[in-house]
Amino acid sequence: MIRVSTGINGLNEMIDGGIPAGHSVAIIGPPGSGKTTFCLQYIWDGLQKDDHCLYISLEEEEDRLLQTAMNYGWEFKKYIDRDMLSLIKLDAFDITGTMDRMLSELPKLINKNGVKRLVIDPFIHIEMGFADDHKRRVNIYELIRRLAKTGVTTLITTENLEGVHSHFGILESIVDAVFLLQIIRSTERGALIYAFQVNKMRWSAHSKDIKPYAITGRGIEIYRESNVYWSEKE
Ligand SMILES: Nc1ncnc2c1ncn2[C@@H]1O[C@H](COP(=O)(O)OP(=O)(O)O)[C@@H](O)[C@H]1O
Ligand SMILES: [Mg+2]
Repeated sequence: MIRVSTGINGLNEMIDGGIPAGHSVAIIGPPGSGKTTFCLQYIWDGLQKDDHCLYISLEEEEDRLLQTAMNYGWEFKKYIDRDMLSLIKLDAFDITGTMDRMLSELPKLINKNGVKRLVIDPFIHIEMGFADDHKRRVNIYELIRRLAKTGVTTLITTENLEGVHSHFGILESIVDAVFLLQIIRSTERGALIYAFQVNKMRWSAHSKDIKPYAITGRGIEIYRESNVYWSEKE
């Protein structure tokens, strides 16, 4: 089986070497937990390996996203010029138009350009747009099914404010894998503790451990050799 490296230090070892090619991964975490950073790092890793990449942004404009990547030292511009990377901003608040484009145009674009790595960030705006849970589930299911047919390996980010489930609790049952990013506010330590866990990963003997991670000027790093500690009293 081909596995796609995540580009995140410490993570590939936790997931049998990488994400099974063609699978979809939900990245769930609160604002500031590093979801966008994670996705940019995954794309940067792909570009270093000559993978065609596509980043669908539902929040940040293209030029802002380029600046965010530059903050970590990743210069995406030259890969855009070489047609190795496309950044596309879609209108998150035109739910019908955007969902139509994602269901019909996205698979075509992936096939046409031979896209290997896809990011959809943040998906929460799309999830919010549906009138009810049934429509939400049917549309997400259909999107993931169509993406899987193309063979692209996809990261989709969504939010939770606290706890371990995404806001709507639907995405994680449909995707192949779930990575959870938690921010724990430790009054005892007087700091934020960032904790990473693989909650689900089809076809993989993945680590079940909760591991500390950090966001630095070079992106995300997971400390596989350390353990998260926080007092139960808090
Ligand atoms: N250069 C940097 N050095 C250290 N931490 C940084 C740096 N740039 C961003 N961060 C951290 O990353 C966070 C933003 O991460 P981001 O990937 O945008 O999160 P999300 O997409 O989950 O909202 C910031 O709140 C900050 O804590
Ligand atoms: Mg973000």
